[in-house]
Amino acid sequence: MISNNKSVNSGIRIAVITGAGSGMGRYFAYYAGFFATDIDELWLVGRDKRKLYKTASRVSRKCRCISADLSDDEEYRALISIVQDTAPDIRLLVNNAGIGIMGDFARLKPEENELMADINCRALTRLTADCIPFMSRGSHIINMASAAAFLPQPGFAVYAASKSYVYSLSKALSHELRKKKIYVTAVCPGCVDTPFINKAEKYEKMKDYKKPFMAEAKKVVLQAYRDAYRGWNVSVYGAGMNCFRVAAKILPDELILRMFF
Ligand SMILES: NC(=O)c1ccc[n+]([C@@H]2O[C@H](COP(=O)([O-])OP(=O)(O)OC[C@H]3O[C@@H](n4cnc5c(N)ncnc54)[C@H](OP(=O)(O)O)[C@@H]3O)[C@@H](O)[C@H]2O)c1
Repeated sequence: MISNNKSVNSGIRIAVITGAGSGMGRYFAYYAGFFATDIDELWLVGRDKRKLYKTASRVSRKCRCISADLSDDEEYRALISIVQDTAPDIRLLVNNAGIGIMGDFARLKPEENELMADINCRALTRLTADCIPFMSRGSHIINMASAAAFLPQPGFAVYAASKSYVYSLSKALSHELRKKKIYVTAVCPGCVDTPFINKAEKYEKMKDYKKPFMAEAKKVVLQAYRDAYRGWNVSVYGAGMNCFRVAAKILPDELILRMFF
């Protein structure tokens, strides 16, 4: 976390959405204004500025496109300097950026395993910590976890562990921030039809039994927003994944792992 002693706010009300250039991030940007109705601007964050501009071209509110690799300390600091210099009222923070690489832990390069932890956990943690001082009563944090958070996953080990971290952190934060009326929601979909899957299949293909549960990105995002603005701390899209969540709670991990892995 970068220390700051500025408090809310310059008067400008914003939504910050990471990974806004593709997949679910685009839909988070398209629909932000329907739920966070009081925002003046969307700040779209991602590595590829052209993709961010493309998203912005379909958003009716004013957008600021900020290219930043969240795993790069210097670029992260530049992003936070913009936040601190502007001192906005952050009404909505969507920590959506994330990566996954399928394959056994020892088969992946060490830096690939580290990058998953870095983007999915470290970047999300520090951005949340750096944004909270600029958030006020009634604001929302939406963290992209995954249904992978509910169970350890051989062949996707670091990814599933990183999403368990996001799930646990989000639930704890939702309690801590309740006093300030800042709402935190962990979004836990199963497979979603986005570029994520192609990128993840670098060493291994997705397991066949997951394919029937593939969801549409737009539907997952709309469900996430609805659940977040109801004040729920977890959003799980679809009956299949809700059943999986319950099964993972009541059955021993080992039993489920033997059945599916
Ligand atoms: N698709 C699924 O099956 C699924 C299921 C459950 C959860 N999720 C989670 O949903 C979130 C969104 O994924 P998606 O499915 O929409 O896939 P996606 O289209 O690949 O989106 C991932 C986004 O993360 C951004 N990103 C990756 N590394 C980054 C970095 N170092 N710095 C800044 N931004 C970075 C990418 O931005 P650039 O393109 O600009 O690099 C991209 O926009 C992720 O957290 C993912 O783990 C996905």
